[in-house]
Amino acid sequence: MSKVTVVGAGNVGATCANVLAFNEVADEVVMLDVKEGVSEGKAMDMMQTAQLLGFDTNIVGCTNDYEKTANSDVVVITSGIPRKPGMTREELIGVNAGIVKSVAQNILKYSPNAIIVVISNPMDTMTYLSLKALGLPKNRIIGMGGALDSSRFKYFLSQALGCNANEVEGMVIGGHGDTTMIPLTRLATYKGVPVSNFLSEEKLQEVAAATMVGGATLTKLLGTSAWYAPGAAGAFVVESILHNQGKMIPCSVYLEGEYGESDICCGVPVILGKNGIEKIVELPLNEEEKAKFAASAAAVRKTNAALQEVGAL
Ligand code: 2OP
Repeated sequence: MSKVTVVGAGNVGATCANVLAFNEVADEVVMLDVKEGVSEGKAMDMMQTAQLLGFDTNIVGCTNDYEKTANSDVVVITSGIPRKPGMTREELIGVNAGIVKSVAQNILKYSPNAIIVVISNPMDTMTYLSLKALGLPKNRIIGMGGALDSSRFKYFLSQALGCNANEVEGMVIGGHGDTTMIPLTRLATYKGVPVSNFLSEEKLQEVAAATMVGGATLTKLLGTSAWYAPGAAGAFVVESILHNQGKMIPCSVYLEGEYGESDICCGVPVILGKNGIEKIVELPLNEEEKAKFAASAAAVRKTNAALQEVGAL
């Protein structure tokens, strides 16, 4: 039996659980939240869609009962507060670091072999914190930011091209922050043809800029951070792991020399399969892209340094 736990049944966590159930990614999906009754209610609500939507996944909700999460294959951590309009993801560190650390430790007690997918913000730093706090091998801790940012990038490219988003390929690497993301416009394609054949450099810069502030734009519109694409991106990452699909997905992972960086979790393309990170893919970046990656990593490292200030590491 395959089992996935989603910690945090807020907008992002509940959407992730819903996509996992609807797509029958796992036999059982457990949602855990600190708010009394919320996970139980959302699980029951989702289970009442099973007959309408035709899925067989069992969804269980619980209030802070980690025993129910026991023996999960994959655990998704969405706990913590989301950003409000005008806030950066980095500003959430003070509150979220303590929450994410204690969630990760509780999870590991009951699912010692689980692969952990981190969604909580600031995502790269929360991934790094989980890795350091749990001391697990690096293949088992994965931050999902690049999956979301790449999906937004493909959306904005498809809007500019006037085509279906599924006809577009592209990746965003670097940190999951408004100024740290690196949409790789040079390598993006429309049906295998470089997008620069169809879009001007100016238009490509506009697409990249819209991608980078994609989350902030939605936070302004919604009054809180987005959830449909973040939740679906989490489920997408889980599926590649649990079904051993071997997809190449940009994720925040621990680097040991790759892309010229060490002792940091930052977004790079990885192959995701049954062991979590099966391989880190090194792209042939040009000098400009390399410089952007170095700057992005420096910014992530600065946020990581705050983990000590808030007493999380
Ligand atoms: C976003 O970009 C929640 O960080 C997430 O929408």
